Amino acid sequence: MDTLLNLQALPMGAAIGGPAVVVGGLTLFLIKHLVDDQKKKASGIRPPPEVPGLPVVGNLLQLKEKKPHKTFTKWAESYGPIYSIRTGANTMVVLSSNDVAKEAMVTKYSSISTRKLSNALKILTSDKSIVAMSDYNEFYEETKRHLLTNTLGTHAQKRHRIHRDIMIKNVCDQFHAQMQSNPTEAINFRKIFQSELFGLALKQAIGQDVESLFVEKLGTTLTRNEIFKILVLDPREGAIDVDWRDFFPYLKWIPNKSFENKIRKMYVQRQAVMEALIDWHKKRIASGQEINCYLDHLISEAKTLSEQQILMLLWEAIIEASDTTLISTEWAMFELSKDQGRQNRLLSEIQKVCGKDEFTEENLPQVPYLSAVFHETLRKHSPVPIVPLRHVEEDVQLGGYDIPQGSEIAINIYGCNMEPTVWETPEDWIPERFLNDKDETLELHKTMAFGGGKRACAGALQAMLISCVAIGRLVQEFEWRLNDGEEDNVDTLGITTHKLHPMLAILKPRS
Ligand code: HEM
Repeated sequence: MDTLLNLQALPMGAAIGGPAVVVGGLTLFLIKHLVDDQKKKASGIRPPPEVPGLPVVGNLLQLKEKKPHKTFTKWAESYGPIYSIRTGANTMVVLSSNDVAKEAMVTKYSSISTRKLSNALKILTSDKSIVAMSDYNEFYEETKRHLLTNTLGTHAQKRHRIHRDIMIKNVCDQFHAQMQSNPTEAINFRKIFQSELFGLALKQAIGQDVESLFVEKLGTTLTRNEIFKILVLDPREGAIDVDWRDFFPYLKWIPNKSFENKIRKMYVQRQAVMEALIDWHKKRIASGQEINCYLDHLISEAKTLSEQQILMLLWEAIIEASDTTLISTEWAMFELSKDQGRQNRLLSEIQKVCGKDEFTEENLPQVPYLSAVFHETLRKHSPVPIVPLRHVEEDVQLGGYDIPQGSEIAINIYGCNMEPTVWETPEDWIPERFLNDKDETLELHKTMAFGGGKRACAGALQAMLISCVAIGRLVQEFEWRLNDGEEDNVDTLGITTHKLHPMLAILKPRS
């Protein structure tokens, strides 16, 4: 996942550009605040510490620099692992430690399981019609079962193995081809890996990669890049689009046309492309040609789901497979390219295990250092830094504090993975911290990167298989070094923590 795992809408500061009407709420706010304070004192309720903010807008202005996970982590140093902030009219409780996050995700799950979506996400997910954004209900249970049975569960991943093997081979072949035609030119890792990952996502979801597609509703033939933009890049950008009404629900009657038009356009285009893809493959199925893919499975097994629900589930499988695995693999290759000593250590582990043979999934249980590289990368560069907001459905206690019904909960995964009492020198990338005597090379949940409890990432196995085999093969086949100037180029972008600029690396094929 997890382009769509977003924190309400960002940048929060932009919300303040809303109408001046907001200021009219100032007096009301002060009176309400005073009354609430008195009520709390009288009832003996123990609320979490509050980060001071401004009247009406609360802490929104302090969050405008687009990296709330970092601000949340900084605040945790002063206010502790659990505190509350105000985003306009909403109260948000932020959890930044492993203990309290696990308490929320596992022990108190039933009180904290409803998703709280931004206006952009409500539209883009057809009002929670995908597994990851659904509330915990019958729809969720049924669709998660389909997703695991056909696509992401252990047996399903075995059946999709061929797509992963082809993907990794294609990536390596393209790097070799580029080396041959222009050995001194830096390669753009992301361009090649992202395109291959998208191909894998399409094969798992609809059974086939595409080169181009005629989309009747748009009256045109789209290239593969245009399809990728409409299905993945645009919704990823839309998911973090700001509608200031998210923060001031009492003003939802005021139109916000530019926001609505932009998100609607994304919705309409995505709908048209998905319908065209599905129609094309329905003809294939009708001609008797069945493929092991999610579409064929849903059409034959999910009789109670509507066509729109099936469309949304297929789109979910495509967008989720196309994003976060790229992020973790790119960051791992960045760290290894920067650190020749650790790259050599990984290479000798791989050579010891498979000699001159190609590194494959069968070798994964024998390479603890590769597993350590993967988990340390997920820890330091958590692709999903904040778990999608949840909503507290009844008064609940967390970390010894009372959280009132109606609060939003933000679980700061980045903060958990940077907790200094759990991780020594958390800012440093040290895979060795995951090496120990226990036989847990294939364990997926060594950090909070995949979330936890019932809603933990359903794609963790796929992400691990693709990322680890890719890292292993790329180090086995090439010597990696960063292009000049790359080392300081580490800023992040977006709701998943993409490296702001694609990594440029100089590769040398190993003899
Ligand atoms: C390194 C890669 C990945 C990371 C770090 C990651 C992280 C996460 C996180 C933090 C959650 C939210 C957990 C929660 O709400 O408590 C999640 C949920 C989810 N992820 Fe991933 N994810 C990754 C890859 C994938 C892939 C490749 C797929 C599918 C192809 C996927 C599918 C899902 C789904 C369906 C959910 C929702 C599970 C549920 O609500 O039951 N993820 N992921």
